[in-house]
Amino acid sequence: MKNGTIWQDICGNDIQAHGGCIIKHGDTYYWYGENKGADNCPGRNRVDVIGVYCYSSKDLVNWKYEGLVFESNKDDPASYIHTSKVMERPKVIYNEKNKNFVLWMHIDSADYTYAGVGIAVSESPTGPFVLKRVTVPNRQDSRDMTIYKDVDGTAYLVHSKDWNKTLNIARLNEDYDDLDGFYVSVMADQEREAPALFFHEGMYYMITSGCTGWNPNAALYARCPQLLGKWKLIDNPCVGENSRMTFFGQSSYIFEVDGRFYLMLDHWIPHNLKKSGYSILPIEIDEKNDITVNWQDEWNGI
Ligand code: DGJ
Repeated sequence: MKNGTIWQDICGNDIQAHGGCIIKHGDTYYWYGENKGADNCPGRNRVDVIGVYCYSSKDLVNWKYEGLVFESNKDDPASYIHTSKVMERPKVIYNEKNKNFVLWMHIDSADYTYAGVGIAVSESPTGPFVLKRVTVPNRQDSRDMTIYKDVDGTAYLVHSKDWNKTLNIARLNEDYDDLDGFYVSVMADQEREAPALFFHEGMYYMITSGCTGWNPNAALYARCPQLLGKWKLIDNPCVGENSRMTFFGQSSYIFEVDGRFYLMLDHWIPHNLKKSGYSILPIEIDEKNDITVNWQDEWNGI
């Protein structure tokens, strides 16, 4: 699969799973993301909300379409999930206690002033996910976001707040379907979005992008030995040609396979979002806990 371009599923159709995540359940990988498979609204950098698509794979290369697992509302313009609104960066997490799958996503008004999250649940990885609630987490605005499951099973919503100036790490309840009220603010006034996290040998890492809309900018990573501690900004993890532009991509998620970590990027095409591309790049970690991401022309699985 050619990194930086739109990829196809095993039937030859464009994969519509932007701003997404890849999780493993049993022996299968599931890729969830925004279906942007419609024409842009005339003259605008948006497509009306369709919902969340899911694909499955055993090898991270051959992806089988599993359906529209969460659908927008086409009938009620007042609904938070109406087609006229914003639904971005869907992330799915498995809840061991309830044996169900919980979908979190950025839910917003078309002008991005509502700034909340939506939470939906499903008994099966391939849906259907049923909306449980839409909320503004801890009464703090929330735009780009991800869900992170800590090593002890506690899960957190990591979201940009204060008009993207600062990030919050907000703890979820045991069902993973709401916030429990506890949060910390990190990287104050650093203006980061698109957070993606992982943990390796006693250290937490977070890769973020700058805030330039759909246009690429330099990624930056931060590091901290405690998830809720004082995160330190370190450097741009990307190296080599086009590294100042994150290889023309933006972080969406980091997944782990056999102790190695892989960064998923979206390559947005603002005037034709449905053709936005993907890449998956391995993350190298050295003995000083510094991380680097090199460009690779192709993703051929692991
Ligand atoms: C940057 C964010 O990372 C994207 O998810 C999207 O919200 C765009 N901004 C919209 O301009």
